[in-house]
Amino acid sequence: MKICVLPGDGIGPEIMAEAVRVLKALDLKLEMEEALLGGCAVDATGTPYPEATQKLAREADAVLLGAVGGPKWDALPRDQRPERGLLGIRKDLGLFANLRPAILYPELANASSLKPEIVAGLDILIVRELTGDIYFGQPRGIETREVNGTQQRVGWNTMIYAEYEIRRILKVAFEAAQKRGKKLCSVDKMNVLECTQLWRDIAEEVAKDYPDVELTHMLVDNAAMQLVRAPKQFDVMVTGNMFGDILSDEASMLTGSIGMLPSASLDANNKGLYEPSHGSAPDIAGKGVANPLATILSAAMMLRYTFNQEAAAQRIENAVKKVLAQGYRTGDIFEPGTKRVGTREMGDAVLAAL
Ligand code: NAD
Ligand code: IPM
Ligand code: MN
Repeated sequence: MKICVLPGDGIGPEIMAEAVRVLKALDLKLEMEEALLGGCAVDATGTPYPEATQKLAREADAVLLGAVGGPKWDALPRDQRPERGLLGIRKDLGLFANLRPAILYPELANASSLKPEIVAGLDILIVRELTGDIYFGQPRGIETREVNGTQQRVGWNTMIYAEYEIRRILKVAFEAAQKRGKKLCSVDKMNVLECTQLWRDIAEEVAKDYPDVELTHMLVDNAAMQLVRAPKQFDVMVTGNMFGDILSDEASMLTGSIGMLPSASLDANNKGLYEPSHGSAPDIAGKGVANPLATILSAAMMLRYTFNQEAAAQRIENAVKKVLAQGYRTGDIFEPGTKRVGTREMGDAVLAAL
């Protein structure tokens, strides 16, 4: 079981250290090797996804990632930005299926920005397409050209999906729904965008193969509203890359903090990249206060999806439940009456609970 470990930038190395400690405590034959991705890779090699990282990521069975990016690299040309490294590794490894589970741990009901009764028992899975859409569509660019008789800067991107891309992510979503509450909500903007009209048509076609799953459709603006109005109406949500990026950050807040939301990005054979849904949090980087639980829970997803180690995955998830029940809280989920801890102490508590 070979894992390519990519700590990345900002809080990445801090949260990754805790996830690695948890994995090492499990008594599994895991082989872990570190490499550079993102801004740290730009600094060391001039490129955000260096060849050595690519080689290791391709050889490994799974990739565990912290986060990339930060203000230090924001002025770089687009192809050298840290985020381009992340998009590059997702595309390179064919990781088209991004699973983002938003689960409310009962102890965090008060940390959610919504009323406890609205989020109690929340368990949503967002299935986000990850290698297509406006993120990768061509043509794209910025240039100066004549518009209405004056020279203007114009910026453009292309929202595009091919049938096979929609079909394969819908299958992943239907199969996930079959194993859960058998409800799938497909999110689009078919009232305005042709690309998502095709999405809806194909969702209807794929649904014929899954008669036991109830398929509904929702426009993305309404979906954003329904997520904060009555989030428990959802079981599995499936959507494109861009809408999924936005809706999953929104859903994370229902669980108390984005520092709680793990993710798995899978290819057709369950090779995967596992990372928290949040970013490098430059505002708190280097302070030792970041919440490592999303990364630790991402490691649990890795054990489940890539390595079929269900028992070990549950051991980690149960340890996380236990530390929350014991009252340990990083700043993002802190409330009066609980024990405020930093990143390392949270890792210590998870290790003790294991
Ligand atoms: P962010 O997710 O990094 O931070 C948003 C807010 O959430 C910040 O206030 C931050 O302190 C807080 N936060 C995030 N993770 C936390 C944690 N584990 N514990 C406690 N608080 C946490 O989003 P942003 O500020 O928009 O982006 C910062 C940088 O990260 C940008 O360069 C962006 O491109 C990059 N980014 C990377 C990834 C990734 O690597 N997968 C994801 C999102 C953003
Ligand atoms: C995420 C991030 C990335 C995305 C960025 C950093 C490229 O926001 O993983 O959600 O938009 O996919
Ligand atoms: Mn995002």
